[in-house]
Amino acid sequence: MGRDRWSSRPIFIIAAIGSAVGLGNIWRFPYVCYENGGGAFLIPYFVALFTAGIPLMILEYGLGQRMQAGAPLAFWKIRKGWEWLGWWAILTGFGIVIYYAVIMAWCFCYLAYSLKLSWQPDTASFFFQRFLQSGEGPGQLGGLRWPILVGLALTWISIYFAIFKGVKSVGKVVMVTVPLPVILIGVFVVRGLTLPGAIEGLRFYLTPDFGQLLNPRVWLAAYGQVFFTLSLGFGVLIAYSSYLPKTSDVNNNAFITSLADAGISFFAGFAVFSTIGYLAFQNSQPVSEVITQGIGLAFIAYPTAISLLPLAPVFGILFFILLLTLGIDSAFSLVEAGVAGIEDEWHIPRRYIVIGICLLAFIGGIVFTTRAGLYWLDIADHFLTNFGLATVGLLECIVVGYLYGTRRFRSLVNPHSDFRVGIWWDVCILVITPLILVISLGRIAWERFRVPYEGYPQWALALGGWGLVLACLILAIILMVGSRRSPGDLEAAARTGSESESD
Ligand code: PFF
Repeated sequence: MGRDRWSSRPIFIIAAIGSAVGLGNIWRFPYVCYENGGGAFLIPYFVALFTAGIPLMILEYGLGQRMQAGAPLAFWKIRKGWEWLGWWAILTGFGIVIYYAVIMAWCFCYLAYSLKLSWQPDTASFFFQRFLQSGEGPGQLGGLRWPILVGLALTWISIYFAIFKGVKSVGKVVMVTVPLPVILIGVFVVRGLTLPGAIEGLRFYLTPDFGQLLNPRVWLAAYGQVFFTLSLGFGVLIAYSSYLPKTSDVNNNAFITSLADAGISFFAGFAVFSTIGYLAFQNSQPVSEVITQGIGLAFIAYPTAISLLPLAPVFGILFFILLLTLGIDSAFSLVEAGVAGIEDEWHIPRRYIVIGICLLAFIGGIVFTTRAGLYWLDIADHFLTNFGLATVGLLECIVVGYLYGTRRFRSLVNPHSDFRVGIWWDVCILVITPLILVISLGRIAWERFRVPYEGYPQWALALGGWGLVLACLILAIILMVGSRRSPGDLEAAARTGSESESD
């Protein structure tokens, strides 16, 4: 049977944008921008986009599309013995989707709470004490939170139905789950901008502080944000592009996806900061005291602001639908990376692979639905995104840039692209991206050895942080050994690999 195919190139682009545009665009970009020089942050952000984000995306798209394989087999075709890197990327992504789905489960619960604005009057204590019922620390698991477990089941059922039939069904789902959140962000931008205090909020978001450009931390923040937001380093883009015909355009696809993602992030900032400006105005507080990011923004600050609006339940429902539709296509893209990897290696019907992954991830997610779930989620997120992603990205540059050769790789992607990438791409893949990743890794590793993350006990960081990263690596090596192909398969795969260079 031939490889599954996207129904058209635009559908592929929409699905890739869906993977890139996720919770990070709304709850991370605006805050990172505000914290690192406001409007001036757009300079390091675009520099990071053009010198690392887009080049690495071209690398991943090129790998998947020209090798016609998910991450492990694609790396094997590039360089024998490197399949483990593909598995490592996939397993790190799998670790991420386990807790990403739990956040979506919270959104399902909050969707129901929106009807009665149950989080009133004190949104923070509702979230921590009534909803999560958080204990003292990661050691106190303290039983399950059933509403979250139900939300988690709903999340995994939705993911299963979105992808079990392959990219044809994904193509249909993303036609709704990608435009809908963008429209909803538009609704919140219009609503936000027409509220008192909005302009003050936007002033915080955008006023440029050019002095910050001299601060290396700001530049690292820009690179970090670009890597995560573009869904790089988890084998997702390799899997998605492997379902394109071999002659599809690589370079243009990478530019379109990245610029669309950046545009949506920037636009989302208007929704976030105008509403936060309104909240600050209502509470007579400075914006700097109200603004938060991540979970604090989505489940505390924003719901508080929504409660103050006329038709609050409607906006509550729309907001959590926004988060759910933003999250789901990012979540199933992470699952698809694993499905593609397994399908390439073993002849198991797709449906069983998807059921297996969804069930395993659901079971893995149960720990995050306990009363200590928030702590474990925080630890896993910090380690997987900072160490897993950066290491995989770095090794990708080494394998493709140094072992395979940048010129050789360019000769794979350029012939079918609208415009060619030149020496600048080599410089980015050989020097800039690896350098930035080494610096970021070194800095964060040094910080972790000096101070434990967020003051969590060492045993918890060893288990849920370092242990998790290491477990992904060990399992990757086991999978590589377990999937060793027969000599016949090896030859066939080698033929497809070399064909790709000649056509
Ligand atoms: N890019 C998504 C976001 O910004 O929320 C998160 C994500 C999805 C990261 C898929 C990585 C990934 F493979």
